Amino acid sequence: MAYDLKLRVWRGDRDGGDLQDYTVEVSEGEVVLDALHRLQATQTGDLAIRWNCKAGKCGSCSAEVNGRPRLMCMTRLSDFEPEETITVTPMRTFPVIRDLVTDVSFNYRKARELPYAELGPRDADGKRRMMQVDVERGQEFRKCIECFLCQDVCHVVRDHEDNKQHFAGPRFFIRYAELDMHPLDTHDRRKLAQEAAGLGMCNITKCCTEVCPEGIHITDNAIIPMKERVVDRKYDPLVWLGNKIGIR
Ligand code: SF4
Ligand code: F3S
Ligand code: FES
Repeated sequence: MAYDLKLRVWRGDRDGGDLQDYTVEVSEGEVVLDALHRLQATQTGDLAIRWNCKAGKCGSCSAEVNGRPRLMCMTRLSDFEPEETITVTPMRTFPVIRDLVTDVSFNYRKARELPYAELGPRDADGKRRMMQVDVERGQEFRKCIECFLCQDVCHVVRDHEDNKQHFAGPRFFIRYAELDMHPLDTHDRRKLAQEAAGLGMCNITKCCTEVCPEGIHITDNAIIPMKERVVDRKYDPLVWLGNKIGIR
């Protein structure tokens, strides 16, 4: 069944903009991205939207729907009342390029600061082995589609532009955790995570976990274990002694 949807969309660029109201015909079962595409096709040919797969897998169509960070292609219109106005705005944490498209290069800079995996020596037969439990632990973190909704919602950078320099954000805390938990990786990332990546600035609000479209338990399975690892290292008496005499 078709009906008229009231849409309020932020239009503008890096110099400023405002919310504009539209009415667009939609059908039951469609998603917010469908409504925006129809708007673009029928009324606003220059509306800028980033999208790719329309299947919740590329992480491109991130925006804020009624103030909540969401993938537009996975947000069903049936989640709202038909007479409700749906407001779509760009992710607030990143600079706007145009309309709903933001510049997410902050995240690429943070990715480059993370040391890559360096594996230890092979076994005598030339193979590398790890326990199945270790394989599975990292699997959850590799589901990340880099939508950056967790980065967008995290108050440490959402409300404080100055923190961006010192805070990698939840998407990269799961990467730090994945690599630090890898039994064959030789780097110790705990100091880097705590100091350069700002793990200590996270006060475990769990907002990142709530918005993750992949259902990754960012806080419970990555951030909290990473914080515990950092504390273990800091208060391990052998590490303390080693630091004092400069051998660890
Ligand atoms: Fe998106 Fe989840 Fe990855 Fe964050 S952890 S970038 S919310 S998929
Ligand atoms: Fe931010 Fe997630 Fe921590 S939202 S404060 S990184 S728990
Ligand atoms: Fe790919 Fe929405 S278009 S996740």
